[in-house]
Amino acid sequence: MRINSLILRNFRNYRRQELDFGPAINVLSGQNGQGKTNVLESVFFLLTGKSQRIRQEIELVTWGEDSLYLSGEFTVRERRIQIESFVRANQRAVRLNGVPCRRMSDYVGLINAVFFTPDDLEIVKKGPMERRRFIDFMICQSKPAHIAALNQYQKALKQKSALLRRTRGDDANLRALLESWNLQLAAAGTKIISHRLEYVVKLQAECQAIFSVIFSADWLVEMTYISMGRRLPKEETPDLAAIFSERMGQEIERRAVLAGPHRDDILIAVNEKPAKIFASQGQQRALVLSMKLAEMEIFRKEKEEYPLLLLDDVLSELDEKRRGFLLDYINAPGRQTLITMTERDARLKGKETVFYSVKGGRAERE
Ligand SMILES: Nc1ncnc2c1ncn2[C@@H]1O[C@H](COP(=O)(O)OP(=O)(O)OP(=O)(O)O)[C@@H](O)[C@H]1O
Ligand SMILES: [Mg+2]
Repeated sequence: MRINSLILRNFRNYRRQELDFGPAINVLSGQNGQGKTNVLESVFFLLTGKSQRIRQEIELVTWGEDSLYLSGEFTVRERRIQIESFVRANQRAVRLNGVPCRRMSDYVGLINAVFFTPDDLEIVKKGPMERRRFIDFMICQSKPAHIAALNQYQKALKQKSALLRRTRGDDANLRALLESWNLQLAAAGTKIISHRLEYVVKLQAECQAIFSVIFSADWLVEMTYISMGRRLPKEETPDLAAIFSERMGQEIERRAVLAGPHRDDILIAVNEKPAKIFASQGQQRALVLSMKLAEMEIFRKEKEEYPLLLLDDVLSELDEKRRGFLLDYINAPGRQTLITMTERDARLKGKETVFYSVKGGRAERE
């Protein structure tokens, strides 16, 4: 998969910009605050409809303007695809090869991208929510059934929480209503957990292979799915209906939903110690980098092509050895990377690279 060209109109600090990309490494360099990350963000937004940096889509529109337009031309399996996106006052329209898309699933996942930024350290350092978001997002990009299961689960969860909050006391009527929500939650929840378990197994295997190279073969990376406080053995989904029934009394007492995959976690350990607590800053970075590159490898196995790799400001965070590893990784055939940096890395010399220098919302190809 690759991106051939990109047009931005009124996207963040870009008024009008066209970019052409090479098939291998594409560097966006420039000083702070000039618009490097904005380019990566626009590509990711075009492909997924999402950006980690926004609460509302309107934030992406250039200040003082009322709408934005993005267009990207991509190649996947030798087929050319154009995706266009319009945003106006939080309304959004997407066209695929000129044809309006009705649902996100019409275009999300056609072209995949792996986005790696320094903020991704949060996946290791922060709480379970960051890890669930990370893994769910990855699964959703290749498994539409996961999107459907998450939506069904969220809907039922909202209803069940509202029911618990607004009723008083405990009677057969309340229990019957809760039971019916529990059945829906169990059906969707079982799917969610089984997709996540399946993914964690793949992620751990790929991550271990990469981490051994970046760090050393002595380091063992382990990922364990934790559901309701219990480590789940690989590929064994719990009996959610039974667990929910068991907890019903407690949930009525506390007037809250106490268990389910919306509270699960993934324990990441290095040499049997939780990485969140014991891994050094550099090890945590190498771990997240391994997870992102593992994501690349998993996509490639499923789709037979590498996704686009978007690397934001990652070189400055790594030491010499890891920087060298990353540059060698992105220099391999079949991988296209868009990478931002403030200072050009001298090792890029001689590699097939397209350079853009970015200044004040203008990107100029050299
Ligand atoms: N909606 C918007 N309209 C206009 N300008 C915006 C908008 N949102 C952000 N900007 C501007 O975009 C610039 C930031 O761009 P970006 O995050 O791409 O910088 P960068 O080159 O990646 O910098 P750094 O090296 O610090 O990460 C800032 O100057 C910011 O003021
Ligand atoms: Mg930036």
